[in-house]
Amino acid sequence: MSTHSKGFATRAIHHGYKPADALGALTPPLHLTSTFAFDTVEQGGARFAGEESGYIYTRLGNPTLNLLEQRVAALEGGEAALAFASGMGAITAAMWTLLQPGDEIVVDKTLYGCTFAFLTHGLAKFGITIRHIDLTEPANLPDAMSDRTRLVYFETPANPNMRLVDIEAIAAAAHKRGAKVMVDNTYCSPALQNPILLGADLVVHSATKYLGGHGDLTAGILIGDAETIQQVRFYGLKDMTGAVLSPFDAFLILRGLKTLELRLERHSQSAMQIAEFLQARPEVAVVHYPGLKTFPQHELACRQMRGFGGMLAFELKDGIEAGRRFMNSLQMIVRAVSLGDAETLIQHPATMTHSTYTPEERAQYGISDGLIRLSVGLETVSDIVADLGTGFDAIKR
Ligand SMILES: Cc1ncc(COP(=O)(O)O)c(C=O)c1O
Repeated sequence: MSTHSKGFATRAIHHGYKPADALGALTPPLHLTSTFAFDTVEQGGARFAGEESGYIYTRLGNPTLNLLEQRVAALEGGEAALAFASGMGAITAAMWTLLQPGDEIVVDKTLYGCTFAFLTHGLAKFGITIRHIDLTEPANLPDAMSDRTRLVYFETPANPNMRLVDIEAIAAAAHKRGAKVMVDNTYCSPALQNPILLGADLVVHSATKYLGGHGDLTAGILIGDAETIQQVRFYGLKDMTGAVLSPFDAFLILRGLKTLELRLERHSQSAMQIAEFLQARPEVAVVHYPGLKTFPQHELACRQMRGFGGMLAFELKDGIEAGRRFMNSLQMIVRAVSLGDAETLIQHPATMTHSTYTPEERAQYGISDGLIRLSVGLETVSDIVADLGTGFDAIKR
């Protein structure tokens, strides 16, 4: 069923599938197969040559992956999408395809730890120049670009410090110099923000997070124009990374997508209450949450996001030693990396997700050692608040 004109939740539940296509099954079938049979040798040859459409081998395409790709493209407002075994699979496959030695890429100062490592410690070894600048100020972009700049890349909100980047302003400036813009939309999911509709060329997600939503898989997805997605499929995915998603995990993400909008509404509501609770505590030095009126980029958040999301970060006045005691005393909130799950998760970026940065790099790129990251889950919000209260009791002693 094509649902392009329909609402978000309708697209998330119905897009790309009619029960009549599969013996009336309400739930789309799971095609758990690595390979596909050809009627004749000639047919196989024609498929490899691109003269006949049809499936060949799951690393090149699979009906369950295809449905997931169509559905997420419809949710992000892109022409096409490509699923991967992880968010890092999607990011690396896209960059191997789009960049070559001599090219330059401009990125924001704050990036998820492994994205930072891939660029700074990985791609840089292959003759690609990485320019880290403060993209929260769009006026910084033109001076950082040259004729070799192929890509501008950022997260908004950024992991872990919640900095926002104005997608529309950056896309306009990047396009003037002929560079593509790729946005990591993991923190928002398409339920809260659609970078392509704001001018970005490509969107990437760690689908491990809100898209899957249940902490039971790792996956990634790239969304963009059909031609670029085709190039990434047949180079970045097929040959350079081989980071193909299991059809079983695609099936689980399709299930997760049905409740994506509902979940993000609840994550956002609870996170707002928790941000206000934290801000009112005398032990807290700062809370970074786009929904707070005191958040320096609150106005931009209201303009480009449809909700403020389930992620926040905060710092305690007594620093990370108090933070460790706080986190270790929690009873329900889980000490774990990842985010976007039903369970509330807490972690320390400097020693966990962002330990790929050296201490000097963290200082240079604005990731404070005292920062605590909270992924607000779907539990009853008063129970989350009560557990955080236990943390505050522990640091009083
Ligand atoms: C913002 C962001 N982008 C990308 C990734 C990488 O995704 P994955 O862990 O699925 O490879 C993560 C993982 O935490 C992330 O938080």
